[in-house]
Amino acid sequence: MYICLCNAITDRDIVKAAEEGALSSEDLAHNLGVGLGCGRCTSCAKSLLAETIARLACATAEAVSAS
Ligand code: FES
Repeated sequence: MYICLCNAITDRDIVKAAEEGALSSEDLAHNLGVGLGCGRCTSCAKSLLAETIARLACATAEAVSAS
């Protein structure tokens, strides 16, 4: 699903950026160009980034506790 129409950025692109270390909307803007056009995608992209970071943190915590 497209999150940023101006730059053709999908939800998968944002999840991948988070997996590669993006931590803020500024990181998404710098790495992908999210929000650098009309700016309407910024809130949605920020929410998806936060959800992904939380999911990655849970997966890491589960892996640590299982080892
Ligand atoms: S939809 Fe992302 S900058 Fe316009």
